[in-house]
Amino acid sequence: MNVLLFGPPGSGKGTQAKDVATTLGIPHVATGDIFRKHLKEGTDLGRLARSYMDRGELVPDSVTCDLVASRLQEADAANGVLLDGFPRSVPQAEWLLGWLRAHRPGPVVVLSLVVPDSFLVGRISGRRTCLKCGATYHVTHNPPPASGCGQCGGEVVQRKDDAEDVVLARLATYARETAPVLGVLRGAATVHDIDGVGAIEDVRARIAAALALG
Ligand code: AP5
Repeated sequence: MNVLLFGPPGSGKGTQAKDVATTLGIPHVATGDIFRKHLKEGTDLGRLARSYMDRGELVPDSVTCDLVASRLQEADAANGVLLDGFPRSVPQAEWLLGWLRAHRPGPVVVLSLVVPDSFLVGRISGRRTCLKCGATYHVTHNPPPASGCGQCGGEVVQRKDDAEDVVLARLATYARETAPVLGVLRGAATVHDIDGVGAIEDVRARIAAALALG
């Protein structure tokens, strides 16, 4: 099964993704994480991505689709993937649906996390991320242990694009370029609208209930 985790910045995609991927036995593929890995390694792609990420804009579709195409062809993705943060433009959605039809026919399930804007800035500005394994925390809702990351012991810091001015730009980009993607997906996949407000465990239970429906 191919599952798309959809929602605005800060809606909880990364927080919920690992559990969903583990439950379904499919790899978690997050385009933002892949770009951050390249950035950390200082590759050309990382440098290119940084120029867009630092402004809260989308990395160009051609670059992002090529990246996803090569990831989808890896052996562990043969039976499905959980895509987190992709597609996030109408051209990306059309490309992905075409690619899946041609190479991986079968059900496509969309988990759309619905969180009002009023929650998002507080969630993102309070987010802290492990430099080593990428685990995310929130200073209030899910604080990291004082000794560092609870999963690997790595240093937990604030992401550069979580500064408030960049967050506002990311939300504007979402409204302009990503929100319309949902209309495209509704015509081609099973879309579950999940209330993303409430305790992390409650959102997790809502996702599990939606997945049980198929
Ligand atoms: P990306 O890394 O994908 O960022 P994003 O979509 O903006 O999503 P976030 O990571 O900000 O939020 P999330 O929904 O994962 O929330 P989280 O679970 O962490 O992309 C970064 C950049 O890369 C983009 O701006 C773009 O430049 C580029 N990019 C990536 N993909 C691209 C693509 N397809 N095309 C082009 N460019 C692309 O939660 C947020 C916080 O809230 C955390 O602190 C968490 O602990 C807390 N939280 C989570 N759930 C709850 C809850 N239920 N209650 C209270 N707090 C909660």
